[in-house]
Amino acid sequence: MNSQQRIEFLIKTLEQHNHAYYVLDNPTITDYEYDMLMQELIQLEKENPQFVNPLSPTQRVGGKALDSFGKITHQRMMLSLSNAYDEHDLIAFDTRIKGLLKIDTPIEYVCEMKIDGLAIALEYQQGKFSYGATRGDGTTGEDVSQNILTMPSIPSFVHETKTFEVRGEVYMSKKVLLTLNQERLASGEPLLANTRNAAAGSIRQLDPSISAKRKLDAFFYYLVNTDDFTFATHAEALDYLDTLGFKTNKERKVVLGIQQVMDYITTYEEKRKTLTYDIDGIVIKVNNLSLHPRLGYTAKTPRWAIAYKYPPELVETILEDVIFTVGRTGKITPNAVLKPVKVSGSLISRATLHNEDFMESKDLHLGDYVYIRKAGEVIPEVVSVNVTKRMFNAKKVTMITQCPECQSELVKVDAMHYCLSETCPTKQEEKLIHFVSKDAMDIQGLGESNIRFFYQQHLISKPSDLYTLKDKKAMLHQLEGFADKSIEQLLQAIEASKSQSLERLLFGLGIREIGEKTAKTLAKKFLTLDAIMDASEEDLLLIPEIGPVAASALGHYFSQPSSQSLINELIGHGLNMRFTGKVSGDAGSFFSFKKVVITGTFESFDRDQLTQLLEDKGAKVSSSVSSATAYVLYGHDAGSKLIKAQQIGIPTLNETQLLELLSKEKV
Ligand code: IVH
Repeated sequence: MNSQQRIEFLIKTLEQHNHAYYVLDNPTITDYEYDMLMQELIQLEKENPQFVNPLSPTQRVGGKALDSFGKITHQRMMLSLSNAYDEHDLIAFDTRIKGLLKIDTPIEYVCEMKIDGLAIALEYQQGKFSYGATRGDGTTGEDVSQNILTMPSIPSFVHETKTFEVRGEVYMSKKVLLTLNQERLASGEPLLANTRNAAAGSIRQLDPSISAKRKLDAFFYYLVNTDDFTFATHAEALDYLDTLGFKTNKERKVVLGIQQVMDYITTYEEKRKTLTYDIDGIVIKVNNLSLHPRLGYTAKTPRWAIAYKYPPELVETILEDVIFTVGRTGKITPNAVLKPVKVSGSLISRATLHNEDFMESKDLHLGDYVYIRKAGEVIPEVVSVNVTKRMFNAKKVTMITQCPECQSELVKVDAMHYCLSETCPTKQEEKLIHFVSKDAMDIQGLGESNIRFFYQQHLISKPSDLYTLKDKKAMLHQLEGFADKSIEQLLQAIEASKSQSLERLLFGLGIREIGEKTAKTLAKKFLTLDAIMDASEEDLLLIPEIGPVAASALGHYFSQPSSQSLINELIGHGLNMRFTGKVSGDAGSFFSFKKVVITGTFESFDRDQLTQLLEDKGAKVSSSVSSATAYVLYGHDAGSKLIKAQQIGIPTLNETQLLELLSKEKV
């Protein structure tokens, strides 16, 4: 064996011992023997620098500090999970899945620990680690490869030549945090609040030797490109990750039906306290991988998984005041001002009181002792009042009748109070903030404080005014904190936003009930703002994702003269009013932009599946035959719709013809 071969042998051998020690928790050699092999490798690499491999264990312990992290665009977006907080949410999750799949037999789920750390994605190519990245904004993350390689449980090499991506959670164990905080206390450094913050801070250290000292670890829970493998289930994919040498979490369990999920959750309610790492809940995933694409995704989360969060700590504090805030839709939210307390690791001084009914149901009085809680990212809320501690003369909290910002009379719609004034300053500010926000027009450099400042300086009062700022340069220059360069950058960003695709503009208008996903659906279906404005409520209701509330909110919004003039002004400023993204599925489909009617029963699909399939191909599926119908697709027992089509000469397709057409399409 020559030096090069010996180096390769030592690298592989040391990696196997690392795996045995750090992943299997079952060392195969003594520390002394391990050190001897390592020394030999260090020596050989020193003598033969040309054979030094960046993935060698000698190189992984912490190399040079970086100036900044490189960016990595994720091959597939790194999504988050929707949350469940109780049995009711879990049953709703299970029911929705069964409904979407049209089955009523119990679903097989995998229950896993929800590790409280930071998500990472690793890519391997030709059996070698190629990079490790943080989640970032889901689309682009930071290249933290150097820091990831300092974790000895992460394999450098795997027996799999296909390119694949594996995702997991970097965490710090409870014990490591304790030791670290003891050291920090001794040296007078600020303490790290919890294991999640500690892990997140450590993986983002530019100096990998600091990262290495933090003794991070990772559990892997998701093989991204399962399509390239032949696994039938998520559990099999996890077992395969084990075989490849990744550390997966062994508490996982395959269960049948939602009741067994709940039993698992109950078991871990106590058991989680004995784990060596923190979890913030249980992740529940549909086991059968072939069901995942059928269930699909919402804007940010898969429909085949959910995160159950254990009930958070309840903490008692004093209700010092109640203040009312105005949102962009004019919605008034009562907020509790609290004596600051620490809840689940964060200092809380405000909590939402939702609305009048909520306040009434709690019978809140100023000075009350209240219990508050904070669940994950959920805004803290007041759970209940400790009435035994109420002062005899305490003043009851009541709902206001006038807008706290513009004094107009509030109007109650369902449970909420609204300020309907179009000139309410806070409402206008909030609308502007929403318009420029990241998920809407994404105008960078125009943060919340700038918007408020411009508004207060009377430079802008509605979204269309943003596009007049370029004519107000002289005024901008007079503002404190705005230099030539920042003004130019800002104006460029505003100008660039003119070409944003329709769904961003639609979402940015801040129409009640029209969230990001609905805006996208509408933009994709109708392609232009004109077409959306022309659509009747009936047309809108043909879209499965649009319910009557959203349809009527749209109708109401577009009927307002103020909305119409805003839109006209935006058009006048040259804003793009079209959907410029990818048209549903493949734009080149036979069915794209065609209005079709389905009638009768089909052997290969049920009605909803066929509708979905055609809509994915860009078709507009409607329920009645008219001269605008391009095709009537008919199955068995087709009735009046088929007859009408034949009478008025609309082309028809039977199931065989339909299947033939579909088979010719790109998948
Ligand atoms: S699965 C598309 N499994 O929780 C599915 N996530 O709140 C991706 N997390 O972003 C996530 N433990 O950072 C999954 N066993 C587990 C997890 C887990 C922790 C984190 C992950 C994710 C976040 C969602």
